[in-house]
Amino acid sequence: MSTINTRYLGLELSSPIIAGSSNFTSKVESIIEAEAAGAGAVVLKSLFEEQIVSQAHSMSTRESYPEADDYLQYYTRTNSVDAYLDLVAGARRSVKIPVIASINCFSPRGWMDFAAEIEKAGASALEVNIFFIPTDKHLSSNDSEKVYFRIIDDLRKKLKIPVSVKIGLRFSNLLNFVWQMKNHGADGIVMFNRFYEPDFDINNLTIHPASVLSATVEQRYVLRWIGMVSGQDIKMDISASTGVYSGEDAIKYLLAGATTVQVCSALYKRGFTVITEINEALHKWMTAKEFKSISDFRGRLNYRNVENPSLFERSQFMKHYSSYI
Ligand SMILES: Cc1cc2nc3c(=O)[nH]c(=O)nc-3n(C[C@H](O)[C@H](O)[C@H](O)COP(=O)(O)O)c2cc1C
Repeated sequence: MSTINTRYLGLELSSPIIAGSSNFTSKVESIIEAEAAGAGAVVLKSLFEEQIVSQAHSMSTRESYPEADDYLQYYTRTNSVDAYLDLVAGARRSVKIPVIASINCFSPRGWMDFAAEIEKAGASALEVNIFFIPTDKHLSSNDSEKVYFRIIDDLRKKLKIPVSVKIGLRFSNLLNFVWQMKNHGADGIVMFNRFYEPDFDINNLTIHPASVLSATVEQRYVLRWIGMVSGQDIKMDISASTGVYSGEDAIKYLLAGATTVQVCSALYKRGFTVITEINEALHKWMTAKEFKSISDFRGRLNYRNVENPSLFERSQFMKHYSSYI
């Protein structure tokens, strides 16, 4: 009999499949549903740095009565922030699976105390989704990466719970970057945040966001990079995120070396039953392959373990481009 238990960020999970951060994890009732469907953990909907720090401030810059502004600031802050702490505490009371809180940020300023409040409210871990688009040509990649390290350093000083970092996929040398994040104290990495890239409307000459939900084909980049990172000697848990709709998709990420696999767009298309189906497919596949536990095959196809690691590299590009007719 195979078991799909796993450890992620030092937490015991009954399954490597996690309900990823989205509106599906923004209410206690749906978190209860996620657990019933077999999710190993949930990542709560993110609270944005702007919500914690700037939103109230920017609203108060409008010309109006100062007393009203004070009220507005207080209202915005207490509502979004307190509602989030209530969500953490409510989820903690209602389910046994780990509840991972999430903050979406771009700087370490002004929200660190709130991270400590999240810990106090009972979060099992914190996932920080660090998302900023460099728009200044004078900002070097080094300086840009330092922002991530500063956030991790400050969180490490504030928190005892594990911290994972959700990142985008474009860095000059992702392997070095991940290794440095580990040295700064990150316990895990979520690969990857999916940006809503702008698309152009050539008739109206306007820009609009491209599809909000992912497609399975988007897995390709992620598979490569999980395979590359997990093939290094960086002892950091990897959570895969992007394009998981089936057991096969999840198995591929585990073979690449992911510790856990997050599901989000599939929840919007199929609801929480998709998690039950993925768990069943995983069990079935492991039984057919005679794998007793996930560690029997995790990382089997990563950069270090695969027979021909050049499949991850430049030579494949040369080979296929020159032979394709
Ligand atoms: C409607 C929607 C809301 C999301 N909200 C968040 C969020 O609050 N925080 C976050 O870190 N990621 C958020 N995400 C990103 C997902 O967690 C996930 O990383 C991304 O969609 C890729 O996974 P998928 O292909 O399974 O959707 C959201 C995604 C969608 C589609």
